[in-house]
Amino acid sequence: MNPFKYGAVVEGKNFCHRTALVRQIREHIADKQNILIQGERRIGKTSLIIESINTKNCRHIFVDLMSVKTVDDICKRLLQGLVELEKRSGFLEKIIQNLKHLRPVVSIDPITGGPTLELDISTPQKPDSILETFSVIESVCHGKKTVIVLDEFQDILDLECNNEVLALMRSKIQRQKNISYVFCGSIRKKIDSIFSDISSPFFKSAIPMTIDSIPVDDYFHFIEQKFQIGKRTIDKSLFEKIYQLCDGITGDIQQFCEAIWSITSYKDQVRDKTYNEALLLMFSREQKTYELVIGQITAFQMRCLVALAKLGNVGVTSTAFISKVGQTTPSSVKKAIQRLADIRIIFEVSKRYRFSNPFFKMWLLHKRY
Ligand SMILES: Nc1ncnc2c1ncn2[C@@H]1O[C@H](COP(=O)(O)OP(=O)(O)OP(=O)(O)O)[C@@H](O)[C@H]1O
Ligand SMILES: [Mg+2]
Repeated sequence: MNPFKYGAVVEGKNFCHRTALVRQIREHIADKQNILIQGERRIGKTSLIIESINTKNCRHIFVDLMSVKTVDDICKRLLQGLVELEKRSGFLEKIIQNLKHLRPVVSIDPITGGPTLELDISTPQKPDSILETFSVIESVCHGKKTVIVLDEFQDILDLECNNEVLALMRSKIQRQKNISYVFCGSIRKKIDSIFSDISSPFFKSAIPMTIDSIPVDDYFHFIEQKFQIGKRTIDKSLFEKIYQLCDGITGDIQQFCEAIWSITSYKDQVRDKTYNEALLLMFSREQKTYELVIGQITAFQMRCLVALAKLGNVGVTSTAFISKVGQTTPSSVKKAIQRLADIRIIFEVSKRYRFSNPFFKMWLLHKRY
């Protein structure tokens, strides 16, 4: 079985240790501190949190706020988390019935057999429902130390009434002495506007922790052992090439190693040739997506994208970049680059732009666009 997992949270033996970070998170939680975990996409934020809180004595609720659009959505996801924590549904149902507006019903999922929750959505909820929801959480967790993880927290900003919702949440959270909150997010500007903007209700309300790439030596050790399961071998220099290709992004490295594993056999040595073949496999798996992406952008935006693939780490308004794009002005380039960032093909780090998908970049180069 392929030992390289990607696309979902990894735990236990599939989790390359991040000992210091896990220890820090556990310490903050023990001190009842709220923490903010931030880092690039697919770097391993959610896995790190899960690994840190999945211990016998850590009562926790995990709430994924990805793409929340309404107050109902937030309340439902919070309460569903609570339902999963308190499997004693009779007790919980009694408490939840006190929610005047939400009218929740706890039932049993016929497939998983676990409790699930439905809300009355005939009347859209007002931000005040947030207060009621947090009151329920408070009463269920009363006297019991609990950790609440709010993953993809920045997506709350997509609600029209986001400031009101954040203010109400904050007012409740700061009074809950037994509950530690772990906020997690990856769109840096949005997370910054919640936790670093002085006018935000959450300004400086959690200890920030930035998650970086796993150090190359630690990661090599982990990867080497995984390949050893199938008696495959890999040199450190080749692993470094993969690490560089993927800009140290954990999810991309795992995905690439999964491809390498699938084209190698027992006792194979992973070589440069294998690296190239694995790239071709990635291209064939993802080509349809690349074509869809290209279909969304103009010819000029495409020229900018190709220039970025070819030049790599240079400023997009530098002379080298402008002359690579040809016959243009810095302002037109800026606009095109902004559009590429808006549709998440690229993203900005310290005034430089990088591809969200490193294999797409390699494909553009391979196709000689
Ligand atoms: N410590 C780790 N050891 C091995 N693989 C890992 C580790 N952390 C993350 N990964 C890999 O990265 C992928 C993404 O991990 P995870 O979902 O935890 O990241 P994330 O930063 O929360 O991503 P997103 O930005 O999409 O929310 C996983 O599917 C797994 O392949
Ligand atoms: Mg995540």
